[in-house]
Parts: sequence; C-alpha cells; structure tokens
Amino acid sequence: MEKTFLMVKPDGVQRNLIGEIVSRFEKKGYQLVGAKLMTVSRELAEEHYAEHKERPFFGELVDFITSGPVFAMVWQGNNVITTARAMMGKTNPVDAASGTIRGDFATSVGMNIIHGSDSPESAEREIGLWFSADEVLSFEKTIQRWI
Ligand code: TYD
Ligand code: MG
Repeated sequence: MEKTFLMVKPDGVQRNLIGEIVSRFEKKGYQLVGAKLMTVSRELAEEHYAEHKERPFFGELVDFITSGPVFAMVWQGNNVITTARAMMGKTNPVDAASGTIRGDFATSVGMNIIHGSDSPESAEREIGLWFSADEVLSFEKTIQRWI
C-alpha cells in the first residue's frame, strides 16, 4: 500500500490545526499508520530540506521548522502521495485554491502549515528519515474495503 510522509509545521501546531488536518485525511479515506509530536533538530531539518540547501530561503526555512513542535505523520492509501499534495494546495498560499489546507488556513509561503512528500522517492526517503521501522504500523481497518 502506498505511503507518504506528512507533517504539520510549527505554525499549524501553534494554531491548533492538528485535529483539522488529521480529520481531512481520515475523512478522505486514508489511514494513519505513524504519528509523533516532536521538536526538530537543525541536523534533521537540514537533511529533510537538503534539496533546497542553495536557495536563499534555506536558512529561514530551517529556523522556522526548528522553532517549535511539529506533528510528523505517515499516511497510507490509494494514490496517497499525489492526492495529499492536491489536498495541501500549492506551495504559496496565494496560489492555493480554497478547499485546500494551504488555501484555507495560510497566507504566506514561509508559514504554509503542512509538508507532504512530492514523489514516491521523496516519500520513501522522508519516512526513513523521520520514522524508525517499528514506529510505522501495519494493521487492517475493516472500513478500508469500502474505499
Ligand atoms: P518546496 O519543496 O518548493 O514546496 P512544498 O512544501 O510545497 O513541497 O519548498 C519547501 C518549503 O520551503 C515550502 O513549503 C516553504 C518554503 N519556501 C519558502 O519559504 N520560500 C519559497 O520561495 C519557496 C519556494 C519555498
Ligand atoms: Mg517540497
């Protein structure tokens, strides 16, 4: 079953949006198989965002992600990587459609509430970076047969 890494960023945690965000993915039909509220080390933040190392916003991005607790999650389900990105909305909330998480709750690209893996390769890398194997559960929900 396809899995992705999603994270409520520090702004989403501070604004009490964990429940809202979890609820959207649950209602869509996805299954939460791993989750933890955690603070992020600079080392982990830099590794997570390594692809952006040379970008001008990299320092601020790492400062922001390490500024308070995040809620890290692994979700699974049909096409969850692509569909979760669609549910998140465009990176810059100015471009994110209403009805998406960023479109509904964010106003600036620097604080856009949520991270989601952008490809199967990123999902595998990010799940491995944020979760140990025994923190990602495998269990059946009987409701899955209706989705
Ligand atoms: P990116 O991977 O391009 O977006 P996404 O989160 O949608 O995969 O960028 C990572 C994060 O970097 C993004 O969520 C917010 C931050 N960022 C900026 O602060 N300024 C920018 O101009 C961009 C492109 C991203
Ligand atoms: Mg990205």
